[in-house]
Amino acid sequence: MIDLHNHLLPGIDDGPADLPTALDMARAAVANGISHVVCTPHIHIGRYDNDSHNIAETCSRFNAALQEAGIELKVAAAAEVRFSGELMTRVLDGSIPFLGQWEGKKVLLLEFPHGEMPFGAERLTQWLLDKGVVPLIAHPERNKALMNNPSKLKPFIEQGCLLQVTAASAAGRFGEKAMHLAHELLSNRVVSIMATDAHNLDHRPPLLQEGLLQAARILGERGRTSGHRHALAHRTPAFRLVDCLITRACRFRPQDSYLLEVGKPCVDSSVSGRNPFSRR
Ligand SMILES: [Fe+2]
Repeated sequence: MIDLHNHLLPGIDDGPADLPTALDMARAAVANGISHVVCTPHIHIGRYDNDSHNIAETCSRFNAALQEAGIELKVAAAAEVRFSGELMTRVLDGSIPFLGQWEGKKVLLLEFPHGEMPFGAERLTQWLLDKGVVPLIAHPERNKALMNNPSKLKPFIEQGCLLQVTAASAAGRFGEKAMHLAHELLSNRVVSIMATDAHNLDHRPPLLQEGLLQAARILGERGRTSGHRHALAHRTPAFRLVDCLITRACRFRPQDSYLLEVGKPCVDSSVSGRNPFSRR
């Protein structure tokens, strides 16, 4: 499996404070069946002032430590970027790393505050799209405003934003409301990627399986097919792999469900009814 949103890099944000803990998290990820990760430390101006340069350096050191420890985990790095006006400057000056590409466009993992959808959010996402950057909205199911009113997501989906749901939310570890919204988004075929958003070993571990099992239950067993994923994972370097899978993940119609680890779309005709998130 591939995990596209996590905080495994040590000492760079609110993930592991030191290298030994980060290595233990990497071991836990591997034990859970994760073969590739793209680490996405926070870029949150004034709080976590990371940029492409220091993230790449930290990732390089982490890769060397993984090799030395004999841990079989392929690691690349990008960032989870907090919503702010400054984001526009950072996109223009090239100091933000992107998660991958979709149909030739860069993909940015975008985080909104957990308590609200900020005023002007749609204008920022449209600005990004106009610049050829596709926002991948991190864990919308954990946003309080969206929990109370999921239809607030519809304009972002209509713009062409993508959604990442956190595995632990689907498994119920962030409470009933987050779980219900995660399941609703999965049922409505608007989730592009499921990821761990792992921060530590205790409360937010790098576990993908439990959320994927829930997703498979919602999407149908075909969602668990993984042959194609394994073929890619063994043949392709991590960055290229991410590019490739994001491309695959996003070129399907929104009503076609897709989980990144699956490697192919799943259309479950047993799910019917009006889709409140549909573009049509
Ligand atoms: Fe995160």
